Parts: sequence; C-alpha cells; structure tokens
Amino acid sequence: MKGILLAGGSGTRLHPMTLAASKQLLPVYDKPMVYYPASTLMLAGIRDIMVISTPADLPQFRRLLRDGAHLGLRIAYAEQPTPDGIAQAFLIARDWIGGSPCALALGDNLIHADHLSVSLRAAAARPEGATVFAYQVRDPERYGVVSFDEAGRAVEIVEKPAAPLSNWAVTGLYFYDHHVVDIASSIKPSARGELEITDLNRVYLESNRLHVERLSRGCAWLDAGTPDSLLQAATFVQTIQSRTGMLVGCPEEVAFRMKYIDADALRDQARHLGKTDLGRALLELAEGEHE
Ligand code: DAU
Repeated sequence: MKGILLAGGSGTRLHPMTLAASKQLLPVYDKPMVYYPASTLMLAGIRDIMVISTPADLPQFRRLLRDGAHLGLRIAYAEQPTPDGIAQAFLIARDWIGGSPCALALGDNLIHADHLSVSLRAAAARPEGATVFAYQVRDPERYGVVSFDEAGRAVEIVEKPAAPLSNWAVTGLYFYDHHVVDIASSIKPSARGELEITDLNRVYLESNRLHVERLSRGCAWLDAGTPDSLLQAATFVQTIQSRTGMLVGCPEEVAFRMKYIDADALRDQARHLGKTDLGRALLELAEGEHE
C-alpha cells in the first residue's frame, strides 16, 4: 500500500504563524507537525509515501524528509497549486499511485493509542473498500461526522453538519482500495468549491464498502489547526514523553521498531539531532536501553 501525506492549504486559522511558514512544519513540542502523521503511516507498514504541499512550501518538506532512505522509506513529492480539496490529492498522485491501494493522512492530525499499529495494519491489509477512523468529540460540527444505526452500522457521513446526528468525527486518516483514483475522479466540487473527502467516503459508504473503525476513549486524536489545538497537541506530547520516557510520533523510532532501519542507521540519525533530548532517546534506543 502507498500513502499520501497531505500538507498543503494556507493555514489561515494559524495566521500570522503561517504567513511565512507551512502549518505542517510548525513545532508540536519537539518535532515538526508532519512527523506525527508520517509516523502513523509508517506504523501501518507503509514505506512508499508521497508528500503533497503548496509550490511555496514543498521545498521545505524536501529539505526535512529528503528521499526518505534514512528512514527506510521512498518519499516522492508533488505540488497542489491551490487548496481545491482533500480528495484532489488522489488526482494529483494518480500516476504515482498507479492502481495500488492508497492511504491518506492529513498533515495536521495526530493519533496516539495503545496497539494502534494493529488496527492500522488491519486497515492496510483489507483488500476491498475503505477504512476510516471515528472518534467521539464535543464539537462534531467542525468535522466530517458519521452516524450509526442500532446495529452499529455506519449509515450516514456528512461534512461539518450544522446539526450533527452523532458526536463521532471522522479523523484525518483514510485507507482506500485500488478504486480510489477512479472514485475521486467521479466526485464533483462541493458548494465551497472543494473536492471533499467526505463525498469520496460517501461513495464507499453507499456501496457498503466503508469500514468505520471507532477509536476507543483510551485513544487520543488531535488536530493542530488552531492556536489552542496546536498548544494542546504540544502539551499532550510533552506530558506523555516526560512522564513515560516513550516518544510520540517519532519517525526514526518507528523506522527502527518496524525494522526499516538497523541500529547503526538509528545511531546516525540520533547524531544528526545533536544534544537534544530526542537525540539522546534515540541513541538509548539504538543501544538497546529501551524495549
Ligand atoms: O481533521 C479531520 C477533518 O479534516 C475531517 O473530519 C473532515 O471531514 C475533513 O474535511 C477535514 O476537515 P478540516 O476542516 O480539518 O479540513 P481543512 O480544510 O482544514 O484541511 C485539513 C488539512 O488538509 C489541512 O492541514 C490542510 C490540508 N489541505 C486541505 C485542503 C482543503 C490541503 O493540503 N489541501 C487542500 O486542498
């Protein structure tokens, strides 16, 4: 399976921070924001990743992530000239996807959960249909919202409903079968002029091919699109890391644990990080001081 990291848009809700910098490169505590969804795709077993961003910001992503070889990945890059919708990513990546199944992670979403990699790998291995993850929130009207019937089957999915039928938000992590490019080509722009990811998901739902996985209350799902949520995400990462000594959303660690790179390569990466706590943690991991 391939995976797209979508990191474009104008980040208007974070102005002036995003006037001269990409939102998805802003720090979430000790790492650039995009590291978190990149780690999620990697945990799903995905090693072919395309980063899509604006023409102005794409060179910065290249500088950060290079060709991905240092993480055992193959990273490609493509421009989205204007933010015409999340589902447009599949049209931009059409040739690169080339008939494979493909996942999509929004560059401003962070998911942290026990045994996440098990659910992710199950989603990536599902041969037919699509998988999305739903999470209970207090403000569903800000998101795509999925509602269920009494048997727990998903029955409706609506983008930013004024009167939500449930409090289950659809997170910014999606897994699709090899039909995704054709389906993305068939949907029309919404009233706000965007190719909506919710419209793409609705096509799968209406043909009974949408698998909705509900994330339990022990999980954390955060998006970092506003000053408050950016600060909350940073505080969350700082709290977990300092309390447990475990890293959250660190691609170098995931690459090592998934055996994409060996201990020598991890040590190299740690040295690049100099005398940071992150660098020290990765060195300890390479020396086998953590399980
Ligand atoms: O975070 C999950 C939510 O993401 C879902 O529940 C919604 O169904 C989905 O539409 C999306 O809602 P947002 O309001 O967060 O979408 P936004 O326009 O803020 O875009 C999300 C990210 O994708 C953001 O980091 C910018 C990037 N993006 C967005 C668009 C529309 C692009 O790179 N290109 C685009 O054309």
